[in-house]
Order: sequence, then structure tokens, then C-alpha cells
Amino acid sequence: MPASEAAHMDNSLRILSLGAGGFIGSHLTARLLREGHAVTGVDTHSDKLTEALANPRFSMIEADIGDGRFDLDAAVSAADLVIDLIAYANPGLYVRMPREVFRLNFLENMRIAEACVRHGKRLIQFSSCEVYGKSIAGAAGDALKDPDDPRHATFQEDASPMIMGPVCKHRWIYASAKALLERVLHAYGLEGLLDYTIVRPFNFIGPRIDYLPSERDGSLPRVFSYFMEALLKGGRMQLVDGGLQSRTYTYIDDAIDCLARIVARPAAARHQIFNIGARGNEITIRGLAELMRTIYDARFRLPGQPRATIGEISGRDFYGEGYDDSDRRIPDIAKARTLLDWEPRFSLQQTVELTMEYYVREARRADGRHA
Ligand code: UGA
Repeated sequence: MPASEAAHMDNSLRILSLGAGGFIGSHLTARLLREGHAVTGVDTHSDKLTEALANPRFSMIEADIGDGRFDLDAAVSAADLVIDLIAYANPGLYVRMPREVFRLNFLENMRIAEACVRHGKRLIQFSSCEVYGKSIAGAAGDALKDPDDPRHATFQEDASPMIMGPVCKHRWIYASAKALLERVLHAYGLEGLLDYTIVRPFNFIGPRIDYLPSERDGSLPRVFSYFMEALLKGGRMQLVDGGLQSRTYTYIDDAIDCLARIVARPAAARHQIFNIGARGNEITIRGLAELMRTIYDARFRLPGQPRATIGEISGRDFYGEGYDDSDRRIPDIAKARTLLDWEPRFSLQQTVELTMEYYVREARRADGRHA
């Protein structure tokens, strides 16, 4: 009996995971398979899916979603649940190729949503914490005097405004595309045409996130990879615009636990938007650089290996014209707590350390291969 039929005989689902080969997708696929679901992954690459590929309940379609040879309607109609993770999610790309970011992150995602509407399928749509844009204080100068006032940056799914920079700061095309997609799904939901759940990840990190900038020519990973490369090679950790902007880092296992609950509780998650983030794990980028360097010195720096330095650079010099930034973003997770009984468990120290362990292991393995 084919795996997809077997999946239908109990509570397990046939899940179409679009973008399964990425960082979040690969971890989510592993979890869904462990829970007994049958997963069809679609992505342009499957190198992060080696374990899944050995599982008979997993099948992989290596294709670009925009490639006319991929039959989106057939894939959606064969699934019980569609998970859409397809996105460019690295700020360097928003600055370098804004129109392409809009094409993939809005137009292609829209086609997926429309296919779900056509076939009456439940959709879990990945969005981003970036849709909130800047905090109120960050947008209005010093509108709130007390920097500890939680209204500065605690974002609530159904209450917080979305404050983005001007059009000439084209970094915001990504957040604008995601925000518009969310609004279209909401509109379909109002008409009863689509069963959707939207998730807004808050800086997930963990094994398999990105790659070192030197591993891929012209690649533009997120900050963790830049800092890791500086640590591993004794280079310079560059703080963009001073590094006083902050992020809230969420360990991938916590995030996947929340996502698995969304999959398992369709009624609770129907027409909801969920922040997924570890709200206690806020740190400035400068603080992150210092924490990573301290951990690296204590646990990983080899005798005689040069120590990374920490320096500053402007956003314009680092990313190019059109860059702008979120100053601070902390998730309100009351909804995930109440509707999903979810609580993140990993501290900031654990989250950073576990992710660093992965990078160091991979780098030393690669060094061994090249030696
Ligand atoms: C990115 C994506 O745009 C979001 O959609 C996504 O949700 C988010 O990552 C995520 O991982 O959840 P961002 O946090 O701005 O957003 O991306 P990073 O590249 O990790 O940058 C974080 C901060 O570090 C930014 O302020 C950036 O300017 C700074 N940075 C980056 C440095 O100071 N030095 C570097 O070498 C690189």
C-alpha cells in the first residue's frame, strides 16, 4: 500500500510541505514524520533532509515552485494539509533584489493560497515577525520615555500596529509582501473560503540555520552566521549601525514544538495568527556578539587561534542603499499559551550555545575533510 494511503487510515495526515528543504522545513519534516504523518516535501534542494529521505513516509519533489513542470494543483489536491514555508528570509536579499523578493514571497505564495482555496485544503502559512516593523519608540523617536515600558516592543498578533519605513528603504518590501499576504488570507477567511493559520517566527536559530558566508559565493546569511565565521576564522564581528537593536532568539526545538501543536489542533488554530518566540530571550546584537565570543573563548577556541574582534559598520556599507532595521521585537505569546498550551523552554544561553556547537562541529568536520 502506498505511504499516502497508509497515512489516511488513522489520525495521521498527508502533508504537503512547500519549502521543506530549508532550516525550519527540515526540522519540521523530521517532527511530522516522527508523529506518523506522511510528508511530501517540495524544494529546490534536499541536502538538509538526509534523514527524512530514508523514511518511507517521506517523498521529495525537487522543483522550483515557479517552474511550470511542477503541478501545484495536483500536489495540493492530494494533501490533507498544506504548509507553506517558501520564502527568501534574509535581509541582504531584500536589499539586493527587492522585486524578486516580492515575486516569491507574495505572488508565488498567493498561488499556493489560491490552490488551497480551490481544493478546500487547510493551509499553515509562514509569515514573519518582521511584519510588525519597528517598535513604537523606534518609529517615533522617543515617544515613550520609559525604555522598559512593554509597549515599546511587545507585539500582539491582533492588536499591534505594523510600522514600516518609507518606500526608499526597500528592505521593507519583504515585510510588506508578507503583511499583504496575511491580509489576503484573512479576507478569504472572512468569506469562509479558506481554513488558514498564520505563524510569525521570531528569530529561530539552531542546527542547519543558514551557512557561513564563505561557504557560498555572494551569499547573504543572517547575523549568526556572520558572527560564527568571524569566531572560527579570528575575523571581525561587525555591528551594523552600532548593534543596539535587539532580537528575541528562539531555539528551533521550541519552535517546532509549537508548530506541531498547530498541526495537531486545527480547530484551535483556525483563522489564527500566532507569534512564535521565546519572549525572555531578548538580546541586543552587540550583546549577542559579546555572548558568542565569551562562549567561543570558553568552549571552542583552539590554542593559538586568533580571537575575533568586534567593530562597527553602517547599514549602508554592510547591506547597501535601501537598508533599514527593526529596532526591537518581543513576541506576546499569550495566544499560543492559551490555545496551544505552548511554552518555550530553552534559555538564551542554551539557544546560542547549542547553535554554536553545531557550527563548530560542522566547521571542524569540513576542516578535517580539507586537511
Ligand atoms: C531576518 C528576517 O528578515 C526575518 O524575516 C526573519 O523573521 C528573521 O530574520 C528571523 O530569523 O526570524 P533580522 O533579524 O533582521 O530578520 O536578520 P539578521 O540578519 O539576523 O539581522 C539581525 C540584526 O543583526 C540586524 O539588526 C542586522 O543589521 C544585524 N547584523 C547583521 C549585524 O549587526 N552584523 C552582521 O554581520 C549581520
